[in-house]
Formats: sequence, structure tokens, C-alpha cells
Amino acid sequence: MALTPAAGGGESSTSPGPIPASGLANAEIRWDGFDPQAYVRHNYADLRADDREILCRTRDFFAGAKLSDARCVDVGSGANLYPALSLLPFAHTVDLCEWSTSNVRWLRQQVDGYDPMWDPYWQVCAEHPRYAALTDPRQRLAQVGRVSRTSVFDLPRHAWDAGTMFFVACSISADRAEAEHAIVRFLRALRPGSPFAVAVMLGSAGYHVGRHSFPAVALGRAEVVAGIAAGAYDVDVHEERPRPPLRDGYVSMLLTTGRTRG
Ligand SMILES: C[S@@+](CC[C@H](N)C(=O)[O-])C[C@H]1O[C@@H](n2cnc3c(N)ncnc32)[C@H](O)[C@@H]1O
Repeated sequence: MALTPAAGGGESSTSPGPIPASGLANAEIRWDGFDPQAYVRHNYADLRADDREILCRTRDFFAGAKLSDARCVDVGSGANLYPALSLLPFAHTVDLCEWSTSNVRWLRQQVDGYDPMWDPYWQVCAEHPRYAALTDPRQRLAQVGRVSRTSVFDLPRHAWDAGTMFFVACSISADRAEAEHAIVRFLRALRPGSPFAVAVMLGSAGYHVGRHSFPAVALGRAEVVAGIAAGAYDVDVHEERPRPPLRDGYVSMLLTTGRTRG
């Protein structure tokens, strides 16, 4: 994904989270104004090389993680199904936790029967035999997917066996402490030893979705890796730099995989 950069923005208050020292807090942003159609059109309508690479690495990681019949979670799913698809062959359930009511509505429709534009993403998954063995991913997602309006800051502890959180920690406020807190809450929501994949934009300056703009934190690689390593082991990091740059407003995408500590 490549978020359209913005100077920041946000309006009213709904979601929980710690009070930031400066900048826009998650609770100060009008997430219900998030336009999932515009977001999908801009970010995912065509499968780009950077998303393909991130999906391939996530796929191979989960395929090698000895998971089966797992309780899985994708946090801050927004209008992106590919993290959930990467969990599908191993899932007893996939909980898609999202705060924006417009995205929750979109997710419920997509879980019931996802749009053909996600087929190329599944085809990438199905290049791996563990995924190819699942012949009807659309029907499986409808069976195991459960969408809920849940904040990353309210996730229960040790509730899931595997999880993904893509482009959320960097993109839910302008406050660095909230980004760090989101990573902590995500990792804690998984049982000890659970495999996970976290993707963030590095150096993000905020982004537009349709008519609305949303703030971001310009995270650096070292702080993201340190935050994840504090709650994880077997951590692997891949940085995907746009070649050539697709736009101004971010530096790169960082995919981190690992297993949660106890
Ligand atoms: C940049 S989007 C990322 C969406 C998607 N995961 C992706 O990979 O494209 C950030 C998402 O975080 C959601 N979000 C904002 N605050 C949240 C919160 N407190 N808890 C969970 N999700 C939140 C937004 O509604 C939005 O869907």
C-alpha cells in the first residue's frame, strides 16, 4: 500500500487510547469519515510490487510457523483483506478488529463474499502449496471471518494464536507514544509463542483518504524494531523501499515477523 501523503488532519472524538503529549490523538480523529472505497481504489485496486513482496514474505512466514486450527486476528483491518488472507489456511477463526464504523461495514460485506479485485492477492498466496490446498478462500473467509468494532487499545490479553497488524501503528495518530502503545497492545493480545506479522510505513507524513486527511507518525526503523523486539523473539525485518519512489510522504515499508514473548 502507498498512502497519499497529507499534512495531517482529523476532527472529532470517538475512540479510546492514551492522551498524547502533543499532536492529534487517536481519540481526536473522526475515523467514521474514512472512505473504504476511496482507500481501496487508491491503495489496492492494482496489486503493486511492494505489496506483493510483503504478502509473499508474510505467506512464507505463516506457512512455516506450524499453525493449524488457530484463533487468528487482524488488527486495524481497514479496507485491506490481504493480511486476513495470509492467515486463512491456518485459521479456526479470523477476527478482523477495526475502529472506524465505515470500515467495519465494508469489512462485513467483504467477509460475506469478497470482491474479485482481491483474487490476485489470493493467487500470490496460492503460489505456496499450503495455501493452494485451500480451494475456496472466498467461502472460507465467509465461514471463519468475524468483524468487530474493537480498538487496538482495548484488545484482550493473550486471546489469539496468530496475528497481523498492517499499516496501523504508524497511521492511527500523530503521537509517537500511541504508535508504541499500539504495538505493545497488539503483541500482548497474542498468546506467548504466537507468530505475528506487523507492517508499518516508515517516515510517514500523514495521508489522504478521499476528502479526508489523517495524521501519521514518522516512525524510524530502529524504534519500530526495538518496540517489537521488546515483546517478541525470532524477529525478522524486511524493508521495502519504493523503486522508483511512488510519491513523497514516506520513506519505506517495514515488515516485521516474529513470535510473541510470554
Ligand atoms: C492506514 S489504515 C490501515 C488499514 C489496513 N490495515 C491496511 O493494511 O491498509 C489505519 C486503520 O486503522 C484504523 N484505526 C484507527 N484507530 C484505530 C484503533 N484505535 N483501533 C483499531 N483500528 C484503528 C483505521 O480506521 C484504519 O482502518
